[in-house]
Amino acid sequence: MIEDMDFENRIVSPEFASVDDDTEITLRPKTLTEYIGQDKVKENLSIYIEAAKKRHESLDHVLLYGPPGLGKTTLAGIIAREMGVNIRVTSGPAIEKQGDLVAILTALNEGDVLFIDEIHRLSRSIEEILYPAMEDFSLDIILGKGPSARSIRLDVPRFTLVGATTRSGQLTAPLRDRFGVLLRLDLYTPEQLGQIVMRSAGILGIPVDSDGALEIASRSRGTPRIANRLLKRVRDIAEIQFDGRINEDVARAALKRFEIDELGLDDFDRRMLKTIITNYGGGPVGLETLSAAVGEESITIEDVYEPYLMQIGFLSRTPRGRCVTAACYEHLGIAPTGQQQQLI
Ligand code: ADE
Repeated sequence: MIEDMDFENRIVSPEFASVDDDTEITLRPKTLTEYIGQDKVKENLSIYIEAAKKRHESLDHVLLYGPPGLGKTTLAGIIAREMGVNIRVTSGPAIEKQGDLVAILTALNEGDVLFIDEIHRLSRSIEEILYPAMEDFSLDIILGKGPSARSIRLDVPRFTLVGATTRSGQLTAPLRDRFGVLLRLDLYTPEQLGQIVMRSAGILGIPVDSDGALEIASRSRGTPRIANRLLKRVRDIAEIQFDGRINEDVARAALKRFEIDELGLDDFDRRMLKTIITNYGGGPVGLETLSAAVGEESITIEDVYEPYLMQIGFLSRTPRGRCVTAACYEHLGIAPTGQQQQLI
């Protein structure tokens, strides 16, 4: 077992950290035109939005899914703005009682967007309130208990539910089926992230050249939230140890200090990959076994660490478990044994 890693403090964690609050909000694009990347999602959304507006209808319910930090909340805000309506933001775990959801739904105005982050974490009893609300814009409320209980039907304004989840597979089928629009967000390319870094640097007044931006971008694990966080940390180093400007050399020096390698892997990624190699012969190793060995929850390994490691071709998920690839051995500078060579 390798020692626990403080996931919250990981500089390349795609999870939202409270220290990011203010700048993340300033940096959020407000229109689809400003939004960089996710071209297919943008194209589809702009058609659906235009069509709904033309018919003077509210937009169908939208489910956004994909790894954390890719801009699901940002897109929900853009949808509301482009539709010309207000947005109410909440999350699955924050809605504890049926009454919480009833209060939210009845306070909406016609056409409003209700954004529920981590929608897969809604409890079943709350999902059941949501079904008639999504389908018929009505609520079935049970008043009282026992034999004297009676049910009343209450209309709510027509609204658009925008749900976000890291994996659509975690959603119950009846909930997933009630979304008219399903959109998957993919990890960004280094070039797209480079444009995002240039845009963010412009807003924050950080002098960065395109090579410096690309250097930060290519180590950001396909995730804008990480790119923006790294940009701010590299700025600190640039201001204290250099002349304040970020070019390729400054970015490289800063990222070396953070122990983030050329591909954006940090100490935890390297230790996890090395654990698969040294303890399990390069794999296959089951997720639960790996989770126990590295001291990290399996859901975090699946949702947070693996998507990028798979995208860069270092890890594969097979029916028998996780396996590292030849490219991974090469990057880590480890020579596969004869037996491992046959497997990769
Ligand atoms: N900042 C964070 N995500 C962004 C995106 N997709 N486009 C532009 N700026 C962003």
